[in-house]
Amino acid sequence: VGDIHSPLMIVGEAPGADEDVQGEPFVGPAGQLLTRIIKAMGFSRETVYIANVLKCRPDTPGQSYGNRKPTVDEMKTCLPYLLEQINLIQPKVIVALGATAMEGLFGKPVPISKIRGHWQTFNGTPAMPTYHPSYLLRNQAPTVKREVWEDMLQVLERLGAPITEKQRNYFK
Ligand code: URA
Ligand code: URA
Repeated sequence: VGDIHSPLMIVGEAPGADEDVQGEPFVGPAGQLLTRIIKAMGFSRETVYIANVLKCRPDTPGQSYGNRKPTVDEMKTCLPYLLEQINLIQPKVIVALGATAMEGLFGKPVPISKIRGHWQTFNGTPAMPTYHPSYLLRNQAPTVKREVWEDMLQVLERLGAPITEKQRNYFK
């Protein structure tokens, strides 16, 4: 969802129960937090592009609530679709939300707490790994929030987007 001409593409893991019902990525609690992060960056959901590695909700038979991590096979099955989205949109920067999105993109497990904040390259496009917003909801520690914000400041710099003093000092 979003602007196909956006220089910023945000990639999550998979639709959850809320997204499955609404047919739109990141609309549940984690999505609402993501929307707030996007706004804090000075953008809106309409001006960035938001996608997931998986295009449908990992099935949880008999359960209309709760989500599970996609399997490696599921991620491999959906990856060509995401690759084509990236090819069409040609973002300047990709933000990968969480360990699973990183694993889906790069095809190998990563220690997210070690690589977040460190630029990676995905098929020639700079990619910033950061924590998934659902992790922020589970772990309310201010250090974790600050880390995600620092990662987003790096993204703004890379995009050449203006950064206000207020944005710089959110956590100071
Ligand atoms: N988590 C994700 O990774 N993607 C969504 O669309 C919603 C929650
Ligand atoms: N654990 C996860 O699964 N994702 C994160 O983003 C951080 C910790």
